[in-house]
Amino acid sequence: MSVSRRSFMKVVGAGGVGAFAMPLLSARGAEAAIAMRGRVPLEAPLGSPSGIRLDSNENPNGPGKAVLDAVHSAFDVANRYPGGPTAALVAQIAKARGVAPENVIMGCGSTEILHLAVRAFTSPAKALVVASPTFEDPAHVAEAIGSPVRSVPVTGALKLDLDAMAEAARGAGLVYLCNPNNPTATVHGAQAVNDFIRTLGRTSPATTILVDEAYHEFVEDPSYATAIPVAMENPRVFVARTFSKIYGLAGMRIGYAIGRAETIKAMAPMKIVNSTNMLAVAGAMAALGDTAHIERERKLNHDSKVFTQQFFEKAGYKVIPSDANFMMVDIRQDSTKFQEACKARGVLVGRPFPPLTTHARISVGTMDEMQRATEIFKRVLVTA
Ligand SMILES: Cc1ncc(COP(=O)(O)O)c(C=O)c1O
Repeated sequence: MSVSRRSFMKVVGAGGVGAFAMPLLSARGAEAAIAMRGRVPLEAPLGSPSGIRLDSNENPNGPGKAVLDAVHSAFDVANRYPGGPTAALVAQIAKARGVAPENVIMGCGSTEILHLAVRAFTSPAKALVVASPTFEDPAHVAEAIGSPVRSVPVTGALKLDLDAMAEAARGAGLVYLCNPNNPTATVHGAQAVNDFIRTLGRTSPATTILVDEAYHEFVEDPSYATAIPVAMENPRVFVARTFSKIYGLAGMRIGYAIGRAETIKAMAPMKIVNSTNMLAVAGAMAALGDTAHIERERKLNHDSKVFTQQFFEKAGYKVIPSDANFMMVDIRQDSTKFQEACKARGVLVGRPFPPLTTHARISVGTMDEMQRATEIFKRVLVTA
């Protein structure tokens, strides 16, 4: 018997669901928690489900019905290890991306992929090259295992400085190329990424390049293209993807990488066996098949994003062009104070991203959330 929503409620009881749901609604997002490196305990800063979370680049709508139904059904087989279904998901991803199953490796979120990459391709003698700022997790892992980290500041337009990154990559083990980049939301077109890869092939042919495409589905820039075709030709390149963003499965923890079989094999030995769970696998399979829902999410994100960009621009603040489900706003004042003032009024915005101490990263919520949040931003910016 498949576990319907009603029987799931019966199993845990109405009170149980309520008690479970509250901390989920109010806890700080996983993406923000990563940056804290466990120093600060997870807290419930909003204390109320009406609070607005714009701090972790999550999908505010959550997964669609097809995914929820699939996840509920998967409770039937939760007593089994997920090997078989994971293999089926790998086959489905491979088909969807035009590659073979041997070109795919799953992770407990793409976070596991980033960890595997840093452990497989860096060492005390082989540095990690990252932008500054970028998603911090790879650098944190490198520091933890004693690999040097070379940080390359973004340009004045808050784009990755690909020339400087190529220079810094000479002799490095791994380059982390986040495209679009978190937190700046800027994107590089296919030509720029391919040129960068070609340059490294000449100047540092032993360096591996991880292209993190966590926000791939949100990109609107027509010059952009996934690096998967390049990864299929070049063993020094591979691509990370996640179900946490447009697919709305951040809490399920499932992501993957695509690359040549030899590149995937280099990471596989460090992988936790069965790090993908049965429910997440079921959800991911349904999510991949529900293309109409993803299209709808893309449109919803676009509309809320444009609304928010227009709010800031009308108020006289510069918004960095965004190809993601978040945006970087030049608020011309201390972003920590802005973050705290918003939090006190029930809106969580992104953590500070040094050296951009006067920019705020705002994740895109629902239209209703952005309408309410912009009222708060108005008050906070005026009183600052
Ligand atoms: C660029 C980037 N990569 C990877 C991740 C990790 O995502 P997950 O482990 O949920 O797939 C995040 C999370 O926000 C991110 O912003």
